[in-house]
Amino acid sequence: DAAEKGGYEHFMLKEIHEQPTAVRTTITPRIVNGMPDFASDGIDINKLSSYRQIFIVACGTAMHAGMVGKYVIEKMARVSVTVDIASEFRYRDPLITDKDLVIVISQSGETADTLAVLKLAKEMKAATLAVVNVKGSSIAREADHVIYTHAGPEISVASTKAYMVQVAVMYLIAFALSRETGHITDAQCAEFTEKLKNIPAVIEEAIGLKDRCQFAASKLLNAESLLYIGRGLDYALSMEGSLKLKEISYIHSESYAAGELKHGTISLITEGMPVIAVATQKSIVEKTISNIKEVKARGAMVILVCGKDIEVEDNVADIIIRLPEADEVLMPMVAAVPLQLIAYYTAVLKGCDVDKPRNLAKSVTVE
Ligand code: G6P
Repeated sequence: DAAEKGGYEHFMLKEIHEQPTAVRTTITPRIVNGMPDFASDGIDINKLSSYRQIFIVACGTAMHAGMVGKYVIEKMARVSVTVDIASEFRYRDPLITDKDLVIVISQSGETADTLAVLKLAKEMKAATLAVVNVKGSSIAREADHVIYTHAGPEISVASTKAYMVQVAVMYLIAFALSRETGHITDAQCAEFTEKLKNIPAVIEEAIGLKDRCQFAASKLLNAESLLYIGRGLDYALSMEGSLKLKEISYIHSESYAAGELKHGTISLITEGMPVIAVATQKSIVEKTISNIKEVKARGAMVILVCGKDIEVEDNVADIIIRLPEADEVLMPMVAAVPLQLIAYYTAVLKGCDVDKPRNLAKSVTVE
């Protein structure tokens, strides 16, 4: 067991450290002459860009990777994308047609609800694409097209590196579609792709924030409940941060679109309640900061995860975790790391069974 953990105390920590390599291994075969290219997966991007609508469907962490995909594909490629939880989607008579593309995302490739959605999409004659980590899994076998992520085996129940590579694939798809639909030029596409290629080094740097994250975690141990807030891509990321924390530390947490707080959730804020705010997107950072001030004024203990050069006045946050630099659009891959580490250290400091949290399974093959 100790040998398998490669010197780390837990698989989760080992897998967090494996993320730079996992991303490199996943994206390298899909970058040809500096451009995203899925020819080695047998996928024609021209065809992918011809669909009326894209549905991304998955469960748990994989669904959160899909959320990042939605924001990026819609923003860059101007193709309509909806994201759904598989167990919801399959029972709501979804409006899928033969003009649509259904992308399912799954680490294990065995999740029952996700597999059922894939079968349903095929029955309804939609094109299907699976983003899967486990070779030859049921979902991989069933889909018209497969993009394998190369995270390697993920042992920890709480997913880290599998999420990271799912998100990386979302970016490659978004860049390729944007180029294909003419929303970015070849030169811009090459530039984004180059930036994605550099992300593993930035993830490495973000892992260096370990001590700071452990310190932040030490402030959460007595919390009964906490909130994660953000806007846009930061909101998508907050969902994953919140899930990670509650899965392994058993502290109740909720993620909220920062602008929605005032419609109810802000009533939960009491003196000392931790709020983890993510603010990496410059165009909306001021809005998020003003939401942070609102929770701060009601006594919240704010941990702010933000970009290096984002201006924050004194007294806005109790703890600031400054991220290493990357293009704003790629920030979720960087900001995910401290959120994983905060969850990890909170669970460790609370003495929880980090790799095998109670009541959870790595792969859910029953409904
Ligand atoms: C389980 C795991 C989660 C995972 C979800 C979807 O609930 O505990 O970590 O995100 O299943 O799994 P999949 O294998 O389809 O990605």
